Amino acid sequence: MIRRSVLLGTGSALPVRAVSNAELAQTVETSDEWIVERTGIRNRHIAGEGETTASLATGAARAALDMAGLSPQDIDLIILATATPDQTFPASATLVQAALGIDDCVAFDVAAVCSGFLYAVTVADSMIRSGAAQRALVIGSETFSRILDWEDRTTCVLFGDGAGAIVLGAEESTDGKRGILSSKLHADGRHNQLLYVDGGPSTTQTVGKLRMKGQEVFRHAVVNLASVLTEVMELAGLAPTEIDWLIPHQANARILDATARKLKLSPDKVVMTVDRHANTSAASVPLALDLATRDGRIQPGDLLVLEAMGGGFTWGACVLRV
Ligand SMILES: CC(C)(COP(=O)(O)OP(=O)(O)OC[C@H]1O[C@@H](n2cnc3c(N)ncnc32)[C@H](O)[C@@H]1OP(=O)(O)O)[C@@H](O)C(=O)NCCC(=O)NCCS
Repeated sequence: MIRRSVLLGTGSALPVRAVSNAELAQTVETSDEWIVERTGIRNRHIAGEGETTASLATGAARAALDMAGLSPQDIDLIILATATPDQTFPASATLVQAALGIDDCVAFDVAAVCSGFLYAVTVADSMIRSGAAQRALVIGSETFSRILDWEDRTTCVLFGDGAGAIVLGAEESTDGKRGILSSKLHADGRHNQLLYVDGGPSTTQTVGKLRMKGQEVFRHAVVNLASVLTEVMELAGLAPTEIDWLIPHQANARILDATARKLKLSPDKVVMTVDRHANTSAASVPLALDLATRDGRIQPGDLLVLEAMGGGFTWGACVLRV
């Protein structure tokens, strides 16, 4: 028998307040035309009072559990990918656990910025396949609005807040055709200064603000995303032509278009949500996955590739048959 992690449900949660480019242009020296042309972003959600990474994560987790038809007590593992936790410690995953009323489970955060969700999925999948977990909540949740420098128009227009979650469950079958078929993670810490936060408990004792050299990140993103996608498809023994849906990290519509072109993938196989959510870091892949599941684009049997790249740099991808 082959033991795999299969997708049982998806969910998401967004802050109540949506902010259009035009609204942003009232306080930041920018324009709707510039943002749309350079990034494809039209809208983002910004967390208000009482909305935090953990509260959004809890909302997304509840929706994913509902879709899976499971109760919180069925979960024995929570991994939350975030770069904007509610507290430096304990892990925001434990806040989600408490909010869901789960008496005992494994709960921890993963910090790999925009590729955090891929890191979290890969760790959860390893734990499920090894028998260390049966049913996992894997969540990406962020409130980047709270670490943005709102005086820096080159970064503050690009990000938004939100959360996405999935439930993964162990399934044994003879053919192993369903579930996570392959995954691959990478990191290259030499690129720290291209995308980072200029503070932290052990250096400045502050939270810090996001800093980015956008053009250089852009170049690395296209190369790394195309190569890791090729890698996971080879690991799964499948050809890129077999992909039904590519669900990439949503940083910039031009990065998504360039990656699809490089891989000769039709743009209508790429799920695009950057226009409505902007870059929500670790939340962007599960938010896009949830949207395309709920609007009926993703159907049972479809082959999905999830992929992301972010600060560090870190990047990764996984192949999943639903
Ligand atoms: C950030 C990004 C959109 C900038 O686009 P770009 O085409 O590289 O633009 P540039 O940085 O060359 O800036 C072009 C001009 O627009 C200006 N500009 C920058 N931000 C602006 C804004 N929000 N509104 C208006 N003008 C802006 C710049 O000052 C510059 O003006 P100048 O030519 O007079 O100096 C793009 O580099 C990008 O998306 N990079 C990847 C970022 C990313 O995805 N990061 C997350 C990865 S997880």
